[in-house]
Amino acid sequence: MENNADVLVIRPENRGDVDAIRKLNKKAFKGNNESKLIDALRGSDIFIPALSLVAEKGGKVVGHILFTPIEIKDANAATPALALAPMAVLPEFQNQGIGTALVRHGLEECKKLGHKIIIVVGHPEYYPRFGFVKAGEKDLALPFEAPPEVFMALELIPGALAGVRGTIEYPREFSEVI
Ligand SMILES: CC(C)(COP(=O)(O)OP(=O)(O)OC[C@H]1O[C@@H](n2cnc3c(N)ncnc32)[C@H](O)[C@@H]1OP(=O)(O)O)[C@@H](O)C(=O)NCCC(=O)NCCS
Repeated sequence: MENNADVLVIRPENRGDVDAIRKLNKKAFKGNNESKLIDALRGSDIFIPALSLVAEKGGKVVGHILFTPIEIKDANAATPALALAPMAVLPEFQNQGIGTALVRHGLEECKKLGHKIIIVVGHPEYYPRFGFVKAGEKDLALPFEAPPEVFMALELIPGALAGVRGTIEYPREFSEVI
């Protein structure tokens, strides 16, 4: 029989997870910015509870991922998308596939809810394995300075980025907290 401690469950966060999510982000990022950002977004009207997912192992919350609505804007159009940010796994549980499970499950949930485009600013060696490509090559831009390789995009529906160009507009919580 499988040991409960080995079973990895990915599920939407619930009220009882808030403190564990805060603590694991502080540990993984060695600072408070990401946990403050998550708290601020949770208190905003754009927060999508179904897209704030935890990874639970043996009853312990060991990882978290959040997807938040953003827009890709130019002078003529605003295209809805989601930002994958932040995600974290407790240091002592890293490199066991938990982050991968969170991303894969998260992307499936985003797709089920009808979302088409995901943007991430993150480790350039990590996200391409999920299909993310350099967003700068797709006519997309960030509203802040960052090395081009960290800015990536994923089409959940093939062709979703066709004809889409513009700058990412993040919810104000991102600039207020980080
Ligand atoms: C990034 C993170 C979420 C990955 O979670 P994880 O459960 O360790 O990931 P997995 O076990 O599924 O995958 C491990 C892979 O991630 C890579 N990885 C882990 N941390 C990385 C980092 N800082 N930069 C680049 N790659 C990283 C590992 O090298 C490994 O690669 P491999 O499969 O080619 O050997 C986790 O390391 C973490 O919480 N880091 C600190 C917070 C952070 O950086 N969050 C992401 C912001 S973009």
